Amino acid sequence: MRHRFFVAAAALLLVLSCSPKKRADGPVYLNPEAPLEERVQDALQRMTLEEKVAITHAQSKFSSAGVPRLGIPELWHTDGPHGIRPEVLWDEWDQAGWTNDSCTAFPALVNLAATWDRELSRLYGDCIGQEAKYREKDILLGPGINMGRTPLNGRTFEYMGEDPYLAGQLVVPYIQGVQANGVAACVKHFAVNNQETKRTSTNSIVDDRTLYEIYLPAFKAAVKEGGAWAIMGSYNLYNGQFNCHNKKLLCDILKDEWGFDGVVVSDWGGCRDDDEAAANGLDIEMGTWTNGLSGNASDSYSNYHLAKPYLERLRDGRASEEGLNDKASRVLRTIFRTSMAPEQHFGSFTSPEHFAAARKIAADGLVLLKNDGTLPLQVPQGGKLLIVGENAYKMMVVGGGSSNLKTKYEVIPLDALHEAFDGKADVVWERGYVGDTTTVYNKVVTGQNLADSRSAEQLTAAAVASAQDASCILFIGGLNKSKYQDNEGTDREDIVLPYGQDALIEALAATGKPMVVVNISGSPCAMPWADKVNAIVQGWYGGSESGHALVDVLTGAVNPSGKLPFTMPLALADGPLKTPRQYPGIKEEGNKWWQEYYDEGVFIGYRWYDTKNIPVQYAFGHGLSYTSFELADASIKRSGSGWTVSATLRNTGEVAGAEVVQLYISDTEASVERPSKELKGFEKVYLGPGESRRIEMSFGKDALSFFDADKHEWVAEPGEFHALIGFSSADIKADLEFSI
Ligand code: GLC
Repeated sequence: MRHRFFVAAAALLLVLSCSPKKRADGPVYLNPEAPLEERVQDALQRMTLEEKVAITHAQSKFSSAGVPRLGIPELWHTDGPHGIRPEVLWDEWDQAGWTNDSCTAFPALVNLAATWDRELSRLYGDCIGQEAKYREKDILLGPGINMGRTPLNGRTFEYMGEDPYLAGQLVVPYIQGVQANGVAACVKHFAVNNQETKRTSTNSIVDDRTLYEIYLPAFKAAVKEGGAWAIMGSYNLYNGQFNCHNKKLLCDILKDEWGFDGVVVSDWGGCRDDDEAAANGLDIEMGTWTNGLSGNASDSYSNYHLAKPYLERLRDGRASEEGLNDKASRVLRTIFRTSMAPEQHFGSFTSPEHFAAARKIAADGLVLLKNDGTLPLQVPQGGKLLIVGENAYKMMVVGGGSSNLKTKYEVIPLDALHEAFDGKADVVWERGYVGDTTTVYNKVVTGQNLADSRSAEQLTAAAVASAQDASCILFIGGLNKSKYQDNEGTDREDIVLPYGQDALIEALAATGKPMVVVNISGSPCAMPWADKVNAIVQGWYGGSESGHALVDVLTGAVNPSGKLPFTMPLALADGPLKTPRQYPGIKEEGNKWWQEYYDEGVFIGYRWYDTKNIPVQYAFGHGLSYTSFELADASIKRSGSGWTVSATLRNTGEVAGAEVVQLYISDTEASVERPSKELKGFEKVYLGPGESRRIEMSFGKDALSFFDADKHEWVAEPGEFHALIGFSSADIKADLEFSI
């Protein structure tokens, strides 16, 4: 791939070596100082029909063609949202075995979401964009922002929670960070793709109000505020049409309503129809082998829907050259924004700064769910700290599907604990249970040996026995990246912890020793033992520095400030999906696809539990600190065409820390049923002990509106509203009434 740099550089040198007069005469598309659209149109009019078609589909597993004759390089696509996937062979999923492509593994996006920190999201995007650039990739296949409709979704760990405002606010800086490096962020998976079960054959049936209020806003923010250069169509169908060529989503909404000028990329094999691919807004068909989904390994990408079949349609008039020019223009625009951009970047890879950023993001997203003072860990000198659980040891960066990474290193919690307590306490580890002993994915290996022949009884007995003389028990368990857990392609079957962990936790708690539970997962888990342990931390897949980040928080080196980006329900049955037609979908007479009805409408996540007064384990937006905060003197006033709420936040504790002040709007007089509250603002505020600060958050009528599907517009009805300010959706500190 470095050769393409030289191709572009040679072309550029040719232009630059000419005198200014000559440069003005050179091809406009090669002139980096020419306006983008002029470059696009100049290149387009120089291309043949065949060249235009060639750039609209894959030429290999992760590249789509350029125009070699004109010195326009191909586009290189790469997973994923958490780091740069290892190089693969031309037509393989498995890694190619390079020795210089071990990346920085950044935390899973749900971990980033849990920071509620826009600046950290920008840092994240900038770092991963630098790594993509260094690896000469033009399109980063991420971030993913599908809403958490069900806690069972296998890819919850790759997404940003259950609230469209939170996801929208955090995806924007991530995109801007990536694209500041001349790499296109490809926001996925567009849209209403909220499960992995039967993901290529399920039709999401969603009413317009739900679509516009819940499932589109984060994507709209990505496009309108984030300026995303690429969007990935999803595998599923929406209202009967496959999303990689869904007219309503791609043409009517994305390109017409939102004015998206970037490129729509199919998910791999998500393109399913010749005519729709030509007509409905797909710009680059990516995939595997020929027709994308079947297993025939022939490499004839020319059989792709947007290859030979498309050429035939262009020649016989079934497809318009105008449509082709639109596709080709968008592809060229992406090339001129990335590998042929005026300002060339070279990125950086696995730098100390990237690992430091990964560690900070991981730590700032850890959520302290409960603490009776047992945290930060106090282990008496020479005492024994008993660590129990597979996730203290198991490396988690490998696996999970397309976000799988080959990382330079991964610090596991157990090693970080040994480092932290070296010379201070005796750190002892008991496996406790045997979960997933997999250590390889796509030929990326962890090098660990997780085999253990002991029975569950033996493992439990050993852990309980070791607890007898322990000063404190630290349980580190949860989920992993195996099938039916946090894994692409399959959904979970319940939110109960697997491998008998609940019983093990109860047995350890019964010893009466101080006990901390760290639940490492990417999605909600039931915690029936919550009242029996002293402290609980929700940990995530934190990437290369996950072990250090966790120990930073457990020891108090970092004061936890994360907040849940999704509700932690008491049980799956408490959720809004009550029927098979809601999830996982049903078969109907005469329809080959599964039908999934979003009957719950806008009532997902806290919008469901809050409005229906259903108790939960821990609420959306919940997260504690080692210090304490107070909110006082809240008020609301008109400001311009909107309103501004303000309040004084004070750190009333002994240590510095951060609180996330959240603003929810409640419409108590609506003509339609609305959620009891909806997040419409938040600020993460760092304060020293005793310090206070006046916080202000402003909002307009759009924050009060619901989507009226009949009028196809947003409506803010006159009447009474409440601005609720709090530290979580369930911890409201001020209720400010106002009306329009
Ligand atoms: C996968 C995923 C998508 C990924 C792509 C390339 O099936 O759905 O997120 O970027 O294919 O690996």
